[in-house]
Order: sequence, then C-alpha cells, then structure tokens
Amino acid sequence: MSGSRAPGRGVRHLYVHLPFCAHRCGYCDFVTLVGRGGEHDAYVDALLAELALERRRLAPRVETVFLGGGTPTFTQPEALERLLAALPDADEVTVEANPETVTPALARLLSRNRVNRVSLGAQTFHTSLLSVLERRCGPDDVRRAMHTLRDAGFDNISLDLLYGIPGQTAADLDADIESALSLAPEHVSYYELEAKPGTRFTHAHGEELARQAEAMEGYFERVVEALVGAGYRWYETANFCRAAREARHNLGYWLGRDYLGVGIGAVSTLGLERRRNAPKLAGYVSALARGQAPPREVETLDEETKRRERLMLGLRLDRPLPLASVGAAVEPTALARAERLGLAERRGASLVLTPRGRFLGGAVTAELMA
Ligand SMILES: C[S@@+](CC[C@H](N)C(=O)[O-])C[C@H]1O[C@@H](n2cnc3c(N)ncnc32)[C@H](O)[C@@H]1O
Ligand code: SF4
Repeated sequence: MSGSRAPGRGVRHLYVHLPFCAHRCGYCDFVTLVGRGGEHDAYVDALLAELALERRRLAPRVETVFLGGGTPTFTQPEALERLLAALPDADEVTVEANPETVTPALARLLSRNRVNRVSLGAQTFHTSLLSVLERRCGPDDVRRAMHTLRDAGFDNISLDLLYGIPGQTAADLDADIESALSLAPEHVSYYELEAKPGTRFTHAHGEELARQAEAMEGYFERVVEALVGAGYRWYETANFCRAAREARHNLGYWLGRDYLGVGIGAVSTLGLERRRNAPKLAGYVSALARGQAPPREVETLDEETKRRERLMLGLRLDRPLPLASVGAAVEPTALARAERLGLAERRGASLVLTPRGRFLGGAVTAELMA
C-alpha cells in the first residue's frame, strides 16, 4: 500500500476542527471551547482562510472530509452552512454530532450541503452513566436523533459508544450494545474510556476507574463478540461496520496516508512533515485575518518513525499489512514468536494479527517492533 501522497496528486483527506461545545464534559481531552456564539463566524472565516492557504496541497478530487470537534453541530447554523458550502466536494463528508443538537432543520442543513455521513456521540443509553459523563443528552435524544437523520435520508450513520464508565456493569454494557444494535447503525465506534491523570474527572472517580480498568479486557471481548455476532465487521480495533461502510476518512489515517487538518489544534501529516496548529482561538483568528499561517509546531519525521507508525496503525486493521511498507520496523525473531503463539500470521508478503493477537493489540505490536 502506498503510504503517502502519490507525486503530483495531492492530499485526499481533509479534517476540519470545530471546537465549540455547549459545555465541557468531564472526561473530554479534545480541543474545545464552551459557548462563544459571537465568535463562530470569525472562526469560520479563519478556517476558510487557512484552507485557501493550503488548498494547493489538496488533490483535485478529495476523497474524504471530516468535521470533528468539539461539537460541529453546536456551531451557529449560518456559520456551519457557510463553511460546509465552501468545502471541497468529496466522496465521504462526515460531521460529528451530539444527539441533542440534531433537529429536523439541522438534518436538512447537513443534507443540502453534501454531508453524507453522521457520527453521533451516544456514549451510553443509561441516564445515570450519561450524568457521570456529564453529558447533556438523555438516551431518548440518541434514538430521536437517529430517527431524525433517517427521516432526512441519511443512510450512513455511526454511533460512538464508551465502555469502562465509572459505575458501569457488564449487564449495563450488554444493554447498551442491544440498544445500539436496535437502531441499526451502519457503523459503530466502541472506545475504552480514557481518563487522564490529574483531571477533575479522574479525581472524582479514581477508585471506580481503577475497578473499571481491571474489567476492560472483558468488556472489549464482550463488545467484539456481540457486534461480530450481529454481523458487523471488526475492521479496526475499536471500529465495526456493515459491508462497505468503513469510515473512509479514518481508514486514510490507519493506512498511513497524508491528511490535511485545519482549525485550532488540528494535526496534518504531509509526507515527512507533521504539523500541529496551536489550540488558542485568538492567535488562530488574528494570524489568518492578517493572511498568515496560524501558530503551529512543525516536526520532521524520519522514515523510521513513519514505518513504526505505519506498523502500529496498520496492525489495528483486519486487512493484511504489506511487510514492504514497514520494512525493518518488524523484528524477525519477535515475528516468528508471535506466529508460534498464534498472535500474528503472514499472508504472502503481508502481515495480520489473528483475532487473539488483536485482543492483545498494542502489546503484540510493541513486541513486534524492532
Ligand atoms: C471528538 S469526540 C466528541 C464528539 C462529540 N462532541 C461528542 O461528545 O459526542 C469523538 C468521540 O471520542 C470519544 N471520546 C471522547 N473522549 C474520550 C475519552 N476520554 N476516552 C475515550 N473516548 C473518548 C467519544 O466517544 C466521542 O464521541
Ligand atoms: S461535547 Fe464532545 S467534544 Fe464537547 S466537551 Fe463533551 S465530549 Fe468533548
């Protein structure tokens, strides 16, 4: 698989960060800003200015556009529509949405602006667990949002769910999976809740988080078993899809392709260059208003780092990873051992983890790395 841009063809994956949220959930570690309704328009101006500066890097036909957040659907509708209308056309255009923001008017706005995939942050269907997460929506909001999107014609909807929430039991998890399946999403992302040390959330739920950590492996197996049993393809460690409904944008990351990210905190990988825009809104907006690139860090990756990243990400997928693309990053004796233990297998000139290897995930990949 060719990792980077084909010469002269340009970048095919565009990420656009919309940081605004109605409030900040305790467990969240993304670049977000609460409220700021008066600044959404200026932020969209800056996003479009950054995109204009970078446009030459994009392929004539972009494959995927992903609007992530934050809560993109919390952005003022006029500003969101102006942004969507100005983005390049693409085969897959995804918008992340919080259930309580999904109204028939929003669904129409998305639909008339070429959005053809919505990623809905459900997290759990238990009211008590939603309040532990400090979410603003209830379980019925998720169901209502799903129906509203279906009524507007969306046929590619993903649900984000979490396991390992403080207070969650295995029975709660089973019930969540059942509720999610009853909505028949085309795609499910099921993440292990990560709690950063030193945050208010970790402080509040410390002991319970430690108990959940013990149960994670079992939860993960339950999730995979139930979703695979229901006919979903476990195509990436935390992602499941109906036939041909992989998240094409994320697949671009996992396959080691180049992507352009615009907005505060957005990351881009362009060949051997990795850029991270600074997370501050004021500096971002003012630099772009002056026609300058936003404040950012730029790192030059070496080929070895690229190969190791490619290995780490590639082995999360169910599709075989061509060994030629990771070269010396794989340690031959470690590979032979993993094969003997039934954790990895070679298929021709490619490598794939077995289901057992995929459950152990990162630990196997770390072993394999030279
Ligand atoms: C950019 S986030 C937020 C999107 C949207 N604002 C929401 O809250 O649903 C995308 C997804 O990342 C996941 N996520 C957020 N924080 C997480 C954490 N601490 N650990 C694991 N997954 C997390 C959630 O499932 C969330 O839906
Ligand atoms: S709504 Fe989503 S992005 Fe915003 S704070 Fe909550 S989890 Fe983070």
